[in-house]
Amino acid sequence: MTRPVLLITGASRGIGAAVARRAAAAGYRLVLTARTAGPLEQLAAELGDDGDDGGADGVLARTVDVTDWTALSGLVAEIEERRGRLDAVVANAGVSVLTSFFGDGGAPPEEWRDLVLTNVYGPALTARAALPALRRTRGHLVLTGSTAGRGIRSGSLYSATKWAVTGLAQAIHAECAGTGVRVTLLQPGLTDTGSIPPSRANDPQLEPDDVAAAVLYALGQPPHVDVTEIVVRPIGHHL
Ligand SMILES: NC(=O)c1ccc[n+]([C@@H]2O[C@H](COP(=O)([O-])OP(=O)(O)OC[C@H]3O[C@@H](n4cnc5c(N)ncnc54)[C@H](OP(=O)(O)O)[C@@H]3O)[C@@H](O)[C@H]2O)c1
Repeated sequence: MTRPVLLITGASRGIGAAVARRAAAAGYRLVLTARTAGPLEQLAAELGDDGDDGGADGVLARTVDVTDWTALSGLVAEIEERRGRLDAVVANAGVSVLTSFFGDGGAPPEEWRDLVLTNVYGPALTARAALPALRRTRGHLVLTGSTAGRGIRSGSLYSATKWAVTGLAQAIHAECAGTGVRVTLLQPGLTDTGSIPPSRANDPQLEPDDVAAAVLYALGQPPHVDVTEIVVRPIGHHL
Protein backbone atom coordinates (compact mmCIF):
# COMPACT_ATOMS: atom_id res chain seq x y z
CA MET A 1 0.00 0.00 0.00
CA THR A 2 1.23 3.53 -0.81
CA ARG A 3 2.44 5.29 2.31
CA PRO A 4 0.56 8.57 2.89
CA VAL A 5 2.38 11.88 2.40
CA LEU A 6 2.28 14.43 5.22
CA LEU A 7 3.44 18.06 5.00
CA ILE A 8 4.28 19.81 8.29
CA THR A 9 5.00 23.55 8.43
CA GLY A 10 7.16 24.76 11.31
CA ALA A 11 8.59 21.26 11.55
CA SER A 12 12.14 21.98 12.65
CA ARG A 13 11.57 22.07 16.41
CA GLY A 14 8.93 22.04 19.15
CA ILE A 15 5.49 20.64 18.39
CA GLY A 16 6.13 20.34 14.64
CA ALA A 17 9.26 18.22 15.17
CA ALA A 18 7.41 16.01 17.67
CA VAL A 19 4.62 15.46 15.12
CA ALA A 20 7.27 14.61 12.51
CA ARG A 21 8.87 11.99 14.79
CA ARG A 22 5.53 10.32 15.57
CA ALA A 23 4.39 10.47 11.94
CA ALA A 24 7.65 8.93 10.74
CA ALA A 25 7.16 6.07 13.20
CA ALA A 26 3.59 5.66 11.93
CA GLY A 27 4.82 5.26 8.34
CA TYR A 28 4.08 8.65 6.77
CA ARG A 29 6.30 9.99 4.01
CA LEU A 30 7.26 13.40 5.35
CA VAL A 31 7.73 16.86 3.90
CA LEU A 32 9.21 19.15 6.54
CA THR A 33 9.37 22.94 6.28
CA ALA A 34 10.63 25.91 8.27
CA ARG A 35 12.59 29.06 7.40
CA THR A 36 15.97 27.94 8.74
CA ALA A 37 17.76 25.13 6.93
CA GLY A 38 20.11 23.74 9.62
CA PRO A 39 17.72 22.27 12.23
CA LEU A 40 15.34 21.16 9.50
CA GLU A 41 18.02 19.17 7.66
CA GLN A 42 19.21 17.70 10.95
CA LEU A 43 15.71 16.42 11.69
CA ALA A 44 15.27 15.12 8.14
CA ALA A 45 18.55 13.20 8.50
CA GLU A 46 17.38 11.77 11.85
CA LEU A 47 14.11 10.63 10.27
CA GLY A 48 15.59 9.00 7.20
CA ASP A 49 16.52 11.59 4.59
CA ASP A 50 18.71 9.70 2.16
CA GLY A 51 19.71 12.17 -0.48
CA ASP A 52 19.12 15.61 -1.94
CA ASP A 53 15.42 14.94 -2.41
CA GLY A 54 14.97 12.29 0.25
CA GLY A 55 14.96 9.49 -2.31
CA ALA A 56 11.65 8.12 -3.53
CA ASP A 57 10.22 7.57 -0.08
CA GLY A 58 12.50 9.54 2.23
CA VAL A 59 12.01 12.87 3.95
CA LEU A 60 11.84 16.06 1.91
CA ALA A 61 13.11 19.11 3.80
CA ARG A 62 12.40 22.54 2.31
CA THR A 63 12.99 26.05 3.61
CA VAL A 64 9.67 27.78 3.06
CA ASP A 65 8.29 30.84 4.83
CA VAL A 66 4.54 30.34 5.32
CA THR A 67 3.93 33.98 4.44
CA ASP A 68 5.38 33.38 0.95
CA TRP A 69 2.57 32.29 -1.40
CA THR A 70 4.86 31.55 -4.34
CA ALA A 71 7.07 29.28 -2.26
CA LEU A 72 4.14 27.47 -0.62
CA SER A 73 2.21 26.83 -3.82
CA GLY A 74 5.44 25.75 -5.54
CA LEU A 75 6.11 23.32 -2.71
CA VAL A 76 2.72 21.65 -3.05
CA ALA A 77 3.27 21.31 -6.81
CA GLU A 78 6.69 19.76 -6.10
CA ILE A 79 5.18 17.31 -3.59
CA GLU A 80 2.57 16.13 -6.07
CA GLU A 81 5.21 15.81 -8.77
CA ARG A 82 7.77 13.91 -6.65
CA ARG A 83 5.49 11.94 -4.37
CA GLY A 84 2.39 11.72 -6.55
CA ARG A 85 0.01 12.79 -3.80
CA LEU A 86 -0.52 14.88 -0.67
CA ASP A 87 -2.62 13.21 2.03
CA ALA A 88 -2.31 15.44 5.07
CA VAL A 89 -1.01 18.83 6.15
CA VAL A 90 -0.27 20.11 9.63
CA ALA A 91 -0.29 23.93 9.37
CA ASN A 92 1.75 24.39 12.50
CA ALA A 93 4.23 27.24 11.91
CA GLY A 94 3.64 30.02 14.38
CA VAL A 95 5.40 32.59 16.51
CA SER A 96 4.61 34.06 19.89
CA VAL A 97 5.58 37.39 21.40
CA LEU A 98 4.23 39.16 24.47
CA THR A 99 2.33 42.37 23.81
CA SER A 100 0.59 45.15 25.69
CA PHE A 101 -1.88 47.51 24.05
CA PHE A 102 -0.83 50.23 26.53
CA GLY A 103 2.83 49.64 25.69
CA ASP A 104 3.46 48.35 29.21
CA GLY A 105 6.27 46.07 28.14
CA GLY A 106 6.17 43.41 25.45
CA ALA A 107 7.25 43.55 21.84
CA PRO A 108 7.25 46.93 20.03
CA PRO A 109 4.53 47.40 17.38
CA GLU A 110 7.15 47.01 14.61
CA GLU A 111 7.26 43.29 15.52
CA TRP A 112 3.48 42.79 15.49
CA ARG A 113 3.27 42.53 11.72
CA ASP A 114 5.30 39.30 11.60
CA LEU A 115 3.20 37.84 14.40
CA VAL A 116 -0.04 38.44 12.52
CA LEU A 117 1.36 37.42 9.15
CA THR A 118 2.90 34.16 10.39
CA ASN A 119 0.01 33.11 12.60
CA VAL A 120 -2.96 34.16 10.45
CA TYR A 121 -1.87 34.80 6.84
CA GLY A 122 0.47 31.76 7.06
CA PRO A 123 -2.13 29.08 7.82
CA ALA A 124 -4.59 30.74 5.43
CA LEU A 125 -2.05 30.52 2.60
CA THR A 126 -1.11 26.98 3.62
CA ALA A 127 -4.75 25.95 3.35
CA ARG A 128 -5.14 27.70 0.00
CA ALA A 129 -2.02 26.02 -1.37
CA ALA A 130 -2.85 22.54 -0.08
CA LEU A 131 -6.63 22.12 -0.37
CA PRO A 132 -6.81 21.40 -4.13
CA ALA A 133 -4.27 18.59 -3.59
CA LEU A 134 -6.06 17.39 -0.46
CA ARG A 135 -9.35 17.27 -2.34
CA ARG A 136 -7.73 14.85 -4.81
CA THR A 137 -6.80 12.45 -1.96
CA ARG A 138 -9.79 13.14 0.31
CA GLY A 139 -7.09 14.24 2.69
CA HIS A 140 -6.79 15.96 6.05
CA LEU A 141 -5.81 19.49 7.14
CA VAL A 142 -4.79 20.14 10.75
CA LEU A 143 -4.47 23.76 11.89
CA THR A 144 -2.49 24.47 15.04
CA GLY A 145 -4.39 27.03 17.04
CA SER A 146 -4.09 27.32 20.80
CA THR A 147 -6.15 27.40 23.96
CA ALA A 148 -5.28 31.12 23.65
CA GLY A 149 -7.72 31.04 20.72
CA ARG A 150 -10.65 30.12 22.95
CA GLY A 151 -9.98 32.10 26.11
CA ILE A 152 -9.09 35.69 26.98
CA ARG A 153 -5.46 36.70 27.47
CA SER A 154 -5.14 40.28 28.68
CA GLY A 155 -3.21 42.47 26.21
CA SER A 156 -2.31 39.53 23.96
CA LEU A 157 -2.19 40.01 20.20
CA TYR A 158 -0.92 36.41 20.01
CA SER A 159 -4.21 35.29 21.54
CA ALA A 160 -6.09 37.34 18.93
CA THR A 161 -4.15 35.63 16.14
CA LYS A 162 -5.14 32.25 17.56
CA TRP A 163 -8.79 33.34 17.73
CA ALA A 164 -8.33 34.03 14.03
CA VAL A 165 -7.06 30.47 13.55
CA THR A 166 -10.20 29.21 15.31
CA GLY A 167 -12.33 31.14 12.81
CA LEU A 168 -10.15 30.08 9.91
CA ALA A 169 -10.52 26.39 10.76
CA GLN A 170 -14.29 26.74 10.97
CA ALA A 171 -14.50 28.62 7.67
CA ILE A 172 -12.31 26.03 5.93
CA HIS A 173 -14.26 23.17 7.49
CA ALA A 174 -17.50 24.66 6.14
CA GLU A 175 -16.03 25.05 2.65
CA CYS A 176 -14.77 21.45 2.72
CA ALA A 177 -18.27 20.04 3.20
CA GLY A 178 -18.90 17.42 0.53
CA THR A 179 -15.25 17.20 -0.58
CA GLY A 180 -14.17 14.35 1.69
CA VAL A 181 -11.46 16.61 3.18
CA ARG A 182 -11.27 16.53 6.95
CA VAL A 183 -10.27 19.61 8.97
CA THR A 184 -9.02 19.53 12.54
CA LEU A 185 -8.46 22.55 14.77
CA LEU A 186 -5.77 21.63 17.30
CA GLN A 187 -5.71 23.78 20.42
CA PRO A 188 -2.82 22.93 22.73
CA GLY A 189 -2.27 24.52 26.10
CA LEU A 190 1.13 25.64 27.34
CA THR A 191 3.76 23.32 25.89
CA ASP A 192 7.40 23.21 26.86
CA THR A 193 9.15 23.93 23.58
CA GLY A 194 12.01 25.84 25.17
CA SER A 195 10.70 29.39 24.94
CA ILE A 196 8.20 29.72 27.76
CA PRO A 197 8.36 33.26 29.20
CA PRO A 198 9.66 33.53 32.80
CA SER A 199 6.22 34.73 33.94
CA ARG A 200 4.78 31.29 33.04
CA ALA A 201 7.75 29.12 33.96
CA ASN A 202 5.93 27.57 36.91
CA ASP A 203 2.63 26.93 35.11
CA PRO A 204 1.70 23.33 34.26
CA GLN A 205 3.07 22.36 30.85
CA LEU A 206 2.66 19.70 28.19
CA GLU A 207 5.54 18.06 26.37
CA PRO A 208 5.58 18.50 22.56
CA ASP A 209 5.10 14.75 22.21
CA ASP A 210 1.81 14.98 24.17
CA VAL A 211 0.49 17.32 21.47
CA ALA A 212 1.93 15.16 18.69
CA ALA A 213 0.01 12.17 20.04
CA ALA A 214 -3.23 14.16 19.69
CA VAL A 215 -2.38 15.04 16.08
CA LEU A 216 -1.67 11.41 15.21
CA TYR A 217 -4.96 10.43 16.86
CA ALA A 218 -6.87 12.79 14.54
CA LEU A 219 -4.90 11.71 11.45
CA GLY A 220 -5.36 8.04 12.27
CA GLN A 221 -9.16 8.00 12.27
CA PRO A 222 -11.01 6.23 9.47
CA PRO A 223 -12.14 8.43 6.53
CA HIS A 224 -15.72 8.83 7.77
CA VAL A 225 -14.59 10.22 11.16
CA ASP A 226 -13.99 13.98 11.23
CA VAL A 227 -12.22 15.09 14.41
CA THR A 228 -13.04 18.77 14.13
CA GLU A 229 -11.44 20.07 17.34
CA ILE A 230 -8.88 18.81 19.80
CA VAL A 231 -8.18 20.73 23.00
CA VAL A 232 -5.28 19.33 24.98
CA ARG A 233 -4.21 21.01 28.21
CA PRO A 234 -1.69 20.22 30.91
CA ILE A 235 -3.60 18.90 33.89
CA GLY A 236 -4.44 21.57 36.42
CA HIS A 237 -4.66 24.36 33.87
CA HIS A 238 -8.06 25.76 32.97
CA LEU A 239 -7.13 28.70 30.68
N1 LIG B 1 4.47 26.07 22.83
C1 LIG B 1 3.24 26.35 23.28
O1 LIG B 1 3.02 26.56 24.49
C2 LIG B 1 2.08 26.40 22.31
C3 LIG B 1 0.79 26.33 22.83
C4 LIG B 1 -0.29 26.39 21.97
C5 LIG B 1 -0.09 26.50 20.60
N2 LIG B 1 1.18 26.58 20.12
C6 LIG B 1 1.34 26.72 18.67
O2 LIG B 1 1.99 25.56 18.19
C7 LIG B 1 2.75 25.90 17.02
C8 LIG B 1 4.18 25.44 17.24
O3 LIG B 1 4.65 26.08 18.41
P1 LIG B 1 6.03 25.67 19.09
O4 LIG B 1 5.97 26.11 20.50
O5 LIG B 1 6.38 24.28 18.75
O6 LIG B 1 7.01 26.71 18.34
P2 LIG B 1 8.58 26.69 18.13
O7 LIG B 1 9.24 25.67 18.96
O8 LIG B 1 9.02 28.12 18.24
O9 LIG B 1 8.70 26.25 16.58
C9 LIG B 1 8.11 27.05 15.60
C10 LIG B 1 8.39 26.41 14.25
O10 LIG B 1 7.80 27.24 13.24
C11 LIG B 1 8.82 27.68 12.31
N3 LIG B 1 8.42 29.00 11.82
C12 LIG B 1 8.26 30.15 12.53
N4 LIG B 1 7.88 31.14 11.71
C13 LIG B 1 7.77 30.60 10.47
C14 LIG B 1 7.42 31.12 9.19
N5 LIG B 1 7.10 32.42 9.01
N6 LIG B 1 7.41 30.27 8.13
C15 LIG B 1 7.74 28.97 8.29
N7 LIG B 1 8.09 28.43 9.46
C16 LIG B 1 8.11 29.25 10.53
C17 LIG B 1 10.11 27.62 13.13
O11 LIG B 1 11.28 27.48 12.34
P3 LIG B 1 12.04 28.76 11.71
O12 LIG B 1 12.13 29.79 12.81
O13 LIG B 1 13.35 28.24 11.24
O14 LIG B 1 11.18 29.21 10.59
C18 LIG B 1 9.87 26.34 13.91
O15 LIG B 1 10.09 25.21 13.10
C19 LIG B 1 2.59 27.40 16.83
O16 LIG B 1 1.56 27.66 15.92
C20 LIG B 1 2.20 27.88 18.22
O17 LIG B 1 1.49 29.09 18.21
C21 LIG B 1 2.28 26.53 20.92
